[in-house]
Amino acid sequence: MSEMIQAEQLTFRYTDFSHTAHLALDGVNLTIPYGQFAAILGRNGSGKSTFAKHCNAIALPSGGRVLVDGMDTLQPDLIWDIRRACSMVFQNPDNQIVATVVEEDVAFGLENMGVPPKEIRRRVNEALHMVDMYEYRMHAPHLLSGGQKQRVAIAGVLAMQPKCIVLDEPTAMLDPRGRADVMHVLHRLHKEKGITIVLITHHMDEAVQAERVAVLDHGHLILDGTPRRIFVQTRKLHSLGLTVPQSVQLLEALNGCAQAGLEIDALTVEECADRLEVWLKGGRA
Ligand SMILES: Nc1ncnc2c1ncn2[C@@H]1O[C@H](COP(=O)(O)OP(=O)(O)OP(=O)(O)O)[C@@H](O)[C@H]1O
Ligand SMILES: [Mg+2]
Repeated sequence: MSEMIQAEQLTFRYTDFSHTAHLALDGVNLTIPYGQFAAILGRNGSGKSTFAKHCNAIALPSGGRVLVDGMDTLQPDLIWDIRRACSMVFQNPDNQIVATVVEEDVAFGLENMGVPPKEIRRRVNEALHMVDMYEYRMHAPHLLSGGQKQRVAIAGVLAMQPKCIVLDEPTAMLDPRGRADVMHVLHRLHKEKGITIVLITHHMDEAVQAERVAVLDHGHLILDGTPRRIFVQTRKLHSLGLTVPQSVQLLEALNGCAQAGLEIDALTVEECADRLEVWLKGGRA
């Protein structure tokens, strides 16, 4: 069976106005199976957005290939099927709002696709319920908070019934409450609808909630594994310009100053508290 996203030896060159080529992705092999919640990390300019753009054929490979739901993005006649299978959500929700009423905004893509009105109504209502924005359906989007706008944008792609949603730093412009609400919605879509989620983020606390973490650097895939496997590699992560979750930072600092001998694989506050409790009681954490 094919994978949701399969990048094989993916290379991408940007050419700027002076015709200087810049290699943004260099031989990336990255496969994301159906139904996975994957996070992609990497310092600024590492190639994350460029990779995301290849997942729904906004960018096309300069070398190698990308299969989305088994479809090669280099085949022009497949482009709309690819975009239906894999939708994108961007950082700035203001750039994604197109209508003056929330439910019209969510219906926009469906109307363009010629979906019958009754089916549009059903899908719009369901999508708004999924993102907890149904009660705001008659509101003006520009008066909503950033987190609410982002959830409306997610409802818009959800109404198109994609198999996969790629989100490029969807919480970067949100306050902590807005971020938490958006993350809650993403986990709900993953669990209840089985949608594949590819989340590009600079927030480690979001990445630890994923099933898999891939790290890009200078256009290369440098690390790939479960959050537990990735986040214990603190030195490597620091060298890649990334931080580690605060729980890992605390345990590492205690090891440094008190030679506590703590395992530093605590990814959540609860796990961290458990390790500390055992240590303080004199047992091995
Ligand atoms: N339109 C463009 N023209 C030329 N070079 C570009 C263009 N867009 C991106 N690049 C370059 O390609 C590389 C990868 O950029 P990309 O936007 O994919 O990085 P990113 O990991 O998403 O970074 P950030 O965390 O800042 O969003 C960078 O070196 C960047 O300068
Ligand atoms: Mg980016």
